[in-house]
Amino acid sequence: MKSAHKTSRLPRRVVITGTGAYVPDRVLTNADLERMVDTTDEWIVTRSGIRERRIARDNEATSDMAAEAARRALAAAGVAPEAVELIIVGTVTPDMPFPNTACFVQNLIGAHKAVCFDIEAACSGFLYGVETARQFIASGSIHTALVIGAEKLSCITDWQDRATCVLFGDGAGAVVLSAGPEERGILSTVMGSDGRLTDLLQLPGGGSRYPTSANTLEKRLHYMKMTGREVFKHAVRAMSDAAAAALNQCGMTVADVACIVPHQANMRIIEAIRERLEAPPEKVYVNLEKYGNMSAASIPVALDEAARSGRIRKGDVVLLVGFGGGFTWGAMVLRW
Ligand code: UT7
Repeated sequence: MKSAHKTSRLPRRVVITGTGAYVPDRVLTNADLERMVDTTDEWIVTRSGIRERRIARDNEATSDMAAEAARRALAAAGVAPEAVELIIVGTVTPDMPFPNTACFVQNLIGAHKAVCFDIEAACSGFLYGVETARQFIASGSIHTALVIGAEKLSCITDWQDRATCVLFGDGAGAVVLSAGPEERGILSTVMGSDGRLTDLLQLPGGGSRYPTSANTLEKRLHYMKMTGREVFKHAVRAMSDAAAAALNQCGMTVADVACIVPHQANMRIIEAIRERLEAPPEKVYVNLEKYGNMSAASIPVALDEAARSGRIRKGDVVLLVGFGGGFTWGAMVLRW
């Protein structure tokens, strides 16, 4: 009785039991971009580290990519769609303003018992989604959740703006989360937001502030706007501070971490964070040269690659860290 009482008071540990990813087949290289805007492969590679990115088909929506990533994550976890009780999609490119993209995914994969909603926290959307699902599971209200980061950024990219169009790509990544054994799972989470800096990274048009009109279209307000250099500085500071705080919260240091999976926006940002954390290069998982910045999809796609390639093994401590528009940011430490 005594031990049962003690166990019931402990928050349940929440474990990633499967990962999955999907990227479209179509590759857009830096050489292709040289023919579209005034840029060079050399500028893009030295300033960002990106060499190519994937672009979804015209008839391929965010939910289509999300559903494929979800199917792969469910297969890896050995979980049937009917067992999923919660679906959260982190995205800034929903299929439609409503219904939410998670409902479209639910229908596509047949997870008819799930509660579905989206989270909009830009590039931090996946981490915000995982922490939200973790709390549902830790509280005991559900057992199994599916969290997806999915983006079709190509449809909100201004293909005439060389300062942004070279940076982004499309894709989706997913994880299955379940209550699990005490020795594994999510150990700590740190999240933050700063609404004073909404102007630095946004898509102004098409919402209630600037509803779609001939004027907003003419001003190209339906495309992402970014003050890159300012975003860069805030991203480095917020991500390195959040990563350090998340490690501190669970009594760990970088020496305990086997693999750091950062948001994949810019190689120079990743390098700056790595130096601030004093982590050796081999601890950091990087795939942005292949995909560019996929916003909420970046971390789960990288996590899936790292897990499937054996870069992350059972028992390893993994550090996830992200940053995006809002600003929003987060870091999470987990034992695989
Ligand atoms: O997902 C989370 C949010 N996003 C990020 O974390 C991205 C953060 N920012 C960045 O990654 C970088 O700021 C960028 C990669 C966007 C830009 O790098 P930068 O070193 O900050 O360059 P910059 O914006 O200061 O531009 C430097 C120069 C400018 O020319 P002048 O004014 O010095 O003559 C730009 O006009 O580079 C020019 N430029 C380009 N040149 C060739 C900007 N874009 C391009 C381009 N090709 N594509």
